[in-house]
Amino acid sequence: MSPNLKIFSTPEDLARELAFEFLADLQKNYTASEMLTIALSGGSTPALLFRELALYAQRPDWGWIKIFWSDERMVPPDHPQSNFGLAKKILLDEVPIPPPNIFRIPGEIPVEEAAERYARLIRQEVPSSENGIPQFDWIFLGLGEDGHTASLFPGSDSLLIADKICAATTHPGSGQPRLTFTLPLINQARRVVFLVTGSSKSKVVADILKQRPSSSTYPAAAVQPLRGELCWYIDKPAASDLK
Ligand code: 6PG
Repeated sequence: MSPNLKIFSTPEDLARELAFEFLADLQKNYTASEMLTIALSGGSTPALLFRELALYAQRPDWGWIKIFWSDERMVPPDHPQSNFGLAKKILLDEVPIPPPNIFRIPGEIPVEEAAERYARLIRQEVPSSENGIPQFDWIFLGLGEDGHTASLFPGSDSLLIADKICAATTHPGSGQPRLTFTLPLINQARRVVFLVTGSSKSKVVADILKQRPSSSTYPAAAVQPLRGELCWYIDKPAASDLK
């Protein structure tokens, strides 16, 4: 299925539209009394979406979400590099999501143990599809200039994992331990959304969306939901090489 590509003039326009669509889906689940299961991405770009969502704290349906993270840096939750920490500061401290519905990755424990524990938690809290793989409603992802996504880095063994839903990896530059969703879990989702802004990402975005050979080594190019929807929300600078 070809990706659903949306290009916006500004990151703010992008965040407004994405928040609108996400909240419309939440409303549907609220009406149907079904929990919406989501996984947030890390890095700096999601901050703009968190800020936009925080504007809607008064909504009645925040209790109908289960929040996970598609990857984490193995640091304590109050560490400046914590993906959970960023989301907490900008979004979770602003909107009434019940704490039992927030499933952060325990970045303060050994990564292998955290990966097993988080996989168990996901299997417990997220309904599985007929193939036995948990099926998130939304998985948000970012994109690195090297084509990495979540903490799936080019050339990493974690890309080849077929029998696990979470994996321990290492950041190739810093050596920092990371915990990441694996491709089988990501590609099982109902909707996978790449959120990408800035001209520094324009080459990698074009390589992937134009399926240039150079994208074969990009982990983000391997994000191809089995039956779900793949959406790219990008701003004009990030789309500048698509012409
Ligand atoms: C992380 C991420 C990573 C991120 C990209 C883009 O924990 O670092 O999950 O995959 O999404 O590196 O990061 P920026 O949004 O900061 O450019």
